Amino acid sequence: MVAATKTSPAERVAELRRLLKHHAHRYYVLDEPEIPDAEYDKLFTELQTLEAAHPDLLTPDSPTQKVIGEVREGLTPVKHAVPMLSIKTETDTTEAGALKFDASVRHALKLPPDAPPVRYAAELKFDGLAINLRYEGGVLRQAATRGDGETGEDVTHTVSTIGAIPRRLKRVDAPVLEVRGEVFMRRDHFEALNQRQREAGAKTFVNPRNAAAGIVRQLDASIARQRPLSFFAYGLGEVQGWDVPPRHSALLDALAKMGFPVDERRDVAHGGEGLALFHARIAVERDTLPFDIDGVVYKVDDRALQQQLGFKTREPRWAVAHKYPAQEQQTRLHGIEIQVGRTGKLTPVAKLEPVFVGGTTVSNATLHNLFELRRKGVRIGDTVIVRRAGDVIPEIVGRVPGPRKAYVPNFRMPKACPVCGSAVVREKGGNDHRCSGGLFCGAQRKQAILHFAGRRAMDIEGLGDKLVDQLVDGGLIRTLPDLYKLGVAKLAALDRMADKSAANLVGALDRSKNATLARFLYALGIRHVGETTAKDLARHFGRLDPILEASVEQLLEVPDVGPVVAQSIHTFFRQPHNREVVEQLRAAGVRWAEHDGAASSTAALPLAGKTFVLTGSLPTWSRDEAKALVEAAGGKVSGSVSKKTDYVVAGEEAGSKLDKARELNIAVLDEEGLRRLLPDPN
Ligand code: IVH
Repeated sequence: MVAATKTSPAERVAELRRLLKHHAHRYYVLDEPEIPDAEYDKLFTELQTLEAAHPDLLTPDSPTQKVIGEVREGLTPVKHAVPMLSIKTETDTTEAGALKFDASVRHALKLPPDAPPVRYAAELKFDGLAINLRYEGGVLRQAATRGDGETGEDVTHTVSTIGAIPRRLKRVDAPVLEVRGEVFMRRDHFEALNQRQREAGAKTFVNPRNAAAGIVRQLDASIARQRPLSFFAYGLGEVQGWDVPPRHSALLDALAKMGFPVDERRDVAHGGEGLALFHARIAVERDTLPFDIDGVVYKVDDRALQQQLGFKTREPRWAVAHKYPAQEQQTRLHGIEIQVGRTGKLTPVAKLEPVFVGGTTVSNATLHNLFELRRKGVRIGDTVIVRRAGDVIPEIVGRVPGPRKAYVPNFRMPKACPVCGSAVVREKGGNDHRCSGGLFCGAQRKQAILHFAGRRAMDIEGLGDKLVDQLVDGGLIRTLPDLYKLGVAKLAALDRMADKSAANLVGALDRSKNATLARFLYALGIRHVGETTAKDLARHFGRLDPILEASVEQLLEVPDVGPVVAQSIHTFFRQPHNREVVEQLRAAGVRWAEHDGAASSTAALPLAGKTFVLTGSLPTWSRDEAKALVEAAGGKVSGSVSKKTDYVVAGEEAGSKLDKARELNIAVLDEEGLRRLLPDPN
């Protein structure tokens, strides 16, 4: 930032306006921000503060005085029948923020201290882009972005491709109805999209909000069609001929009945304390939500009270956005280290000046691979943007533009593995560098053990990364079977290991010997063999020995196994040391039930031979539960809809998979429908 001593307030105000205009253009027009939102907010607040202290410097065209938002060239401007206003933001992320809003509402309504608590509708603040959907006679006629609040952009062509947005309403309560809400991209869809971009060597998106905005504001709808977006309704625009329910919470119920997705986490809260509780509850859920939120929104529930409260300079007095800690921050990049993963992949990891982001302090973040690092132009010493959202690993999304003080050489991958010294190789045309040391490499050994012990693999409770470090570094374990040679005495001799925990671990190791073939295959950590493939292999072959001996052609007969996976399994079992590991594990007493392959064993089950695709969230079953039930009944769960799919089980917020199912005329079930197909639990 500019040194305060050398700059006059007038100069700083001019500088801030220039910066804010530049960054608003990057954000709203180009969908390519250069700095995190939190940094933009800081500049904005600094300008507001300066203008308040020097009213003579205030001009009507200051970014603090008007909503920024231009129409993209090529899109048609739409004048909103009812302006799309924004709401006040409460940046105090503690419960005080909720109490403050409640106090301001009570003050504005002139409520005496003993008046009962005000009733609020409390919702999540989805981090996407605001859209106005105009229905005439129950049919979607137009979709528009917010723009500057008065005039937005016509994005009917891209928004019509969003599966969650009804093209026709289930009930037509109003001849003209404008519904407002947020278009966003779920985190898993965002990760998958960026993963595809990375694999294709293409530019990745900074965050889900940007991806959603970029896709909706495309001139060409074909891109939107390939990229899943979601939507939640949260309010109204123009309405003709409908008695709008008297409470906001009831309005959302009504919108849900018309067919709009409305988030189920919303609640009615009473008084400031009720709001603070909601804020705290959602804060706990934030990391595990399927999408990004940057806060919660409180609205006075009673619409008559909303009207009484009215507006103050373009912002309603009856609503506020109560923020959570930002998920993106900027900080300094000290260095780049190389981490070696279970499969030997070398990942460049950014070493950062510690920064509070997404609710925790982050000092490491992934840079994914050398090519992505180069594309982002990140060098040591740069100011970079870190993103930490949900339980995904923090990542560097880019560098903040600006001159470097000195020349910094571009980062290079090491020629030798930093852990074991083996040669580093890169597959032709691939993006990843790998250590060629295999289980000789300590890093791969540690990761392999952790994977083997994982909950979905052999499920060895108590075998965490600290312990594995000690076991491998102390030379107690070289290969997986060594695990089963650990006794209480050896374990209890380790640092910080009590006799009782040692005994518990030995018990857990013993229990883990009782495995299933699928878990065992998954636990071996064969490249490209995830849980689903492991189950497919177990079902198809029924026993381990034919898998060990299978040719690539035989492996290709397994449903859903393609050439890359088949080759990988084949190569794995041709390595003598891997065969030895398998034999030693069997000798140590690891066992599972065996049978004679798919045809005979599952044919009798009710869903044998049927392929299911699960999409959206079901009312009572989690995705994993539904999957387990289908599989227990002999069915197969696949990740994508194709002509081979028999049923699509769709829940709330089902997106493109549901569209595809309809397109291909595949039976669509809800949870109840699935329950009927399953055998009676009694
Ligand atoms: S209500 C007059 N509710 O946050 C009230 N907005 O300034 C209009 N947002 O960009 C907004 N979730 O797109 C409302 N549950 C929610 C919201 C929400 C996200 C966005 C909205 C706008 C900003 C509010």
